[in-house]
Amino acid sequence: MSLLLQTVKSESDLESANAAASTGYAHGCADTDSKSVQQFQQALSTAFAEPFTLMNVETGAIIHADYDGLSCELSERIGLLAEVARRGRPEIVEDVSPLVMLAIPLPSTKKGPKLVAVGVFPQLQIEHEHQVAAAAQIFGVDASRVLRWILGREIWSPRVLLHLATAIRDSFVQQDEVTRLRSEMNDAIDHACDAYTELGLLHRLTRHLALSENESELWQNALAWLSGSIQSQSLAIVANQAVEDYELTDLFTDDIDGVWIYGESPLEAVVLRELIERIGTPALSQPLILSQEQTSLPTWHCPEVRELVCVPINGGEQPLAWLLAINHRSQAYGTPDEFDSVDLRLLSSVGTILGIHSRNLGLYREQSELFSGLVLSMTSAIDAKDRYTSGHSHRVANLSVALAKQIGLEKKTLDTIYLGGLLHDVGKIGIDDHVLNKPGQLTDEEFEHIKQHSQFGYDILCGIRQLDNILPIVLHHHENWDGNGYPHGLTGTEIPLMARIVAVADAFDAMSGDRPYRKGMPYEKVDTILKNGAGMQWDTRVIDAFFAIREDVQNLYSDTSSQEASQKKVLTVN
Ligand SMILES: [Fe+2]
Ligand SMILES: [Fe+2]
Repeated sequence: MSLLLQTVKSESDLESANAAASTGYAHGCADTDSKSVQQFQQALSTAFAEPFTLMNVETGAIIHADYDGLSCELSERIGLLAEVARRGRPEIVEDVSPLVMLAIPLPSTKKGPKLVAVGVFPQLQIEHEHQVAAAAQIFGVDASRVLRWILGREIWSPRVLLHLATAIRDSFVQQDEVTRLRSEMNDAIDHACDAYTELGLLHRLTRHLALSENESELWQNALAWLSGSIQSQSLAIVANQAVEDYELTDLFTDDIDGVWIYGESPLEAVVLRELIERIGTPALSQPLILSQEQTSLPTWHCPEVRELVCVPINGGEQPLAWLLAINHRSQAYGTPDEFDSVDLRLLSSVGTILGIHSRNLGLYREQSELFSGLVLSMTSAIDAKDRYTSGHSHRVANLSVALAKQIGLEKKTLDTIYLGGLLHDVGKIGIDDHVLNKPGQLTDEEFEHIKQHSQFGYDILCGIRQLDNILPIVLHHHENWDGNGYPHGLTGTEIPLMARIVAVADAFDAMSGDRPYRKGMPYEKVDTILKNGAGMQWDTRVIDAFFAIREDVQNLYSDTSSQEASQKKVLTVN
């Protein structure tokens, strides 16, 4: 039984104070939970066999009081108790025989309220009322009540009271510290797990950027991978239809109204698009997170959507599309049913990567188109300069690719050979027109001049990094297997294979086509020359490939549309 503290005016006041304690007043790691406060009080009651009064020394509010005791005006001691709380250790705040008052500050955080537990104990057994008169006056209670209260109670030494109080408080401080560290460790583990999940997803995504030739597939894969990391009812990508100069139409061909949905969407694609349009592009130029608090307002117009995270996929001045997670789906009981900053960050990272990838693809397409235009312009310039060999570049390019395929070269090399075939004679731009188009036989001097076109071509193209791979073709397509060619007189396998292939295609087209000084040879004669030249002028392996596809070569040449088709072929920037 302890002293009744007059600061509590009524039972309702006490209930209010206790309610406040249960919602906010606490100590240590339990600022918003009174459980630890109750545990501390319980520990004191058990150890001292006396209930304690609990006071908030910042406000003077009594958090807990015992009615079944003596009355004492504790509010007069609030300054003293506040000092005890500041010093942070148990103290005897009144010592007037036969009573002693013990104050114990509860462990608290910097932000938490300052609570002090106060208990009154007898330190001497008494028999007469006059023995308690002085103490009763100091403690503000009636002497006869003190006498009744003290009879039969356990007698305490102030020193023992302090030791026991200090031990109990220290044990709670340590327990709080352990709880705090455990909480920090759990937070760190959660954070590490989130970071690991995010990194894993981003790694998978970025790895597929290089492998992905199909942007649509990459975007849809991103949705599928995200579904394993974000607990949502559904994920979606909604195209920004205001973006016209981007090939979004190619991305969304097989879906409704520019919307991809992954999972069970509570909304139809069309309604989802309407939702985005209603929120508005300006609001969606930045990541947006809508919580249940916002969607429960009467102004929210889409009750099927409880929570929403929306991030832009930026590909330029305005978003190409938006990436959405709709309605959080809790994994376990007790898990908050809301998206958090981890979900937002993950979606933003994926949106950023998809946006950058799209922008890079757009630039790559532009660069490829520019490059294709440049190559076709140079090809046209060659054909225009040498009027007798119009279409020669395209025919050589196509035949060279056919020969390389027959030999079994890989796709990337075929692309290089095609480009090399188109540009193998680009050096003719530097040859005098009257020599190039001379109707009669060339003099030795004129022939030496024409032979320079290999080196001229190399010099023209060697400054273009993307054409590095075709330089061996341009420079060496007139080398002979036996070393009698030009410009370097290379022999056998010294001559790059791609140049040996183009040499055969070049010879076939040159012999079968008209020349300024003669008409085109019949195919039979050309075939004979090629066969006889195998192992001397040309690589036998390439000549064998030529005759293996001889019929196809015929078709290639008879197909008048082949040149036209080849002009439309998209060239690859290496
Ligand atoms: Fe040539
Ligand atoms: Fe040629």
